[in-house]
Amino acid sequence: MPAKQKRMSNRTFTMIKPDAFANGHSGAILDIIIKAGFRLVALKMTSLSEAKAGEFYAVHRARPFYGELVEFMSRGPIIAAILEKDNAVADFRKLIGATDPAKADPGTIRKLFAASLGENAIHGSDSDENALIEGDFFFSGLEKV
Ligand code: CDP
Ligand code: MG
Repeated sequence: MPAKQKRMSNRTFTMIKPDAFANGHSGAILDIIIKAGFRLVALKMTSLSEAKAGEFYAVHRARPFYGELVEFMSRGPIIAAILEKDNAVADFRKLIGATDPAKADPGTIRKLFAASLGENAIHGSDSDENALIEGDFFFSGLEKV
């Protein structure tokens, strides 16, 4: 790569879910994310209607937990963010830990703040492609810095 060419970092998308928000963990979670080297590209507090939560998790529509997931995700405020860092998707999945907090590594965000498999404090995109789709679900181009 020519020395002058700017290296594009990868981006991922996250949500602090309604459980973590309601329990007052948003500040602590954002602090962990920033100190782990992720740059905030976009950030907002918002909430999902049941229809919007259903759309966001449409890939899980046929799963038995879909109804509960939609109900949970539309229960209250969330914080949505686009994050940038080298290897962002994989590194962020490592930082949040396994889907089930009981199986998450010590020190991960889900181990620290999540109560159950369903109510697990935080979302992280699973691929570069989905990171882009999910970021665009919440943010316009003008909101990305
Ligand atoms: O969020 P993650 O990518 O780790 O897991 P997922 O398999 O994409 O599932 C999406 C979300 O559905 C999880 O984060 C949980 O909130 C919920 N879920 C659930 O309630 N029960 C399961 N057996 C699996 C997932
Ligand atoms: Mg997932």
